[in-house]
Amino acid sequence: MEKVKIIQTAHYVPEMVVTNDDLSSMMATSDEWISKRTGIKRRHISLSANTSDLCTKVAQELLCASGWQASELDLIIVATMSPDAYTPATAAIVQGNINAANAFAFDLGAACSGFAYAFDVASQFITSGRAQKVMVLGGEVLSKLVDWEDRTTAVLFGDGAGGVLLAPSTDQAAVLASDLRTFGQEAAKLSAGVNPPLAAWGEVNPRTISAFAMDGHAVYNFATREVPASLRRACHQAGITVDKVDHFILHQANERIIKVIAKRLQLPMERFAVNISEYGNTSAASEPILLDELVKQKQIKRGQIIALSGFGGGLTVGTQIIRY
Ligand code: ACO
Repeated sequence: MEKVKIIQTAHYVPEMVVTNDDLSSMMATSDEWISKRTGIKRRHISLSANTSDLCTKVAQELLCASGWQASELDLIIVATMSPDAYTPATAAIVQGNINAANAFAFDLGAACSGFAYAFDVASQFITSGRAQKVMVLGGEVLSKLVDWEDRTTAVLFGDGAGGVLLAPSTDQAAVLASDLRTFGQEAAKLSAGVNPPLAAWGEVNPRTISAFAMDGHAVYNFATREVPASLRRACHQAGITVDKVDHFILHQANERIIKVIAKRLQLPMERFAVNISEYGNTSAASEPILLDELVKQKQIKRGQIIALSGFGGGLTVGTQIIRY
């Protein structure tokens, strides 16, 4: 079986920045409340570019930085909960934009675990020999799913995209383990874009799309319980203990959640990079954005062990252990 390697990372965020003070002038909130409860100071918001546009920028940087030709790609997966449309898939639009004529492309929906799920699916295509050169993107324009009058969710989310190129590994770099779990009985704890059927025949289609609705406490408890468990299972599968992981790249939903996870694993916060202050929660984009920042800052080095872990809507959790 082929081993799988991360060849290249990239990310892109829209230029426009909305600060906590900007939000305080729109709703009954404050920089103090948002910073203390979440660690968020700013978020980037996309006004006219949609999810496929953000993903296309990342795709172009991935190709440019790696030297790969678009025509060499076999597969493109976009993890997103804020696609441009139900159809065409955002991944198909990206495939067309970059002219990756030999790649098949599809979207994957697992909310904030989307990148971890897509990463695993992409890895399976490579290990099975079905694909050699794969692009995995996580992209979100969550601002279009936010009720900007609901302070309980509006302050949390931001827009952005990130991604990786994956290929068979010919050296020590390898995906060592993956753990995906879904808790569908808790599906109602986090929703957005709910799309009900017609209530009666002949009814005019109302075409409304619902905004984020979240039981914050339930998701908080879920994340602080299930992410450490998933990390432990994945490390066990990889034949290591959690203390052997050099960098934990966790979904950036709330800095407090990350601190509790570090504490439950009895590991120092230094191993848990945090960039939520700049971007807020960008769902499927948050892990690849953080991964790319750490790679570019040369904090992650080849040979080190990294853990990627996402959690959120579904409810879902997903973890990879990777020798980078
Ligand atoms: N500004 C000021 N006050 C606020 C705000 C705000 N933006 N939002 C809520 N409040 C108030 C509440 O009304 C409440 O007031 P009350 O005590 O008078 O009733 C008070 O602040 C405390 O609210 P809580 O909801 O108890 O605050 P909490 O400390 O739980 O923090 C938060 C809320 C940040 C949402 C937290 O629960 C959390 O992070 N949950 C996890 C969210 C998460 O991880 N989501 C991931 C989903 S990602 C995905 O899949 C898309």
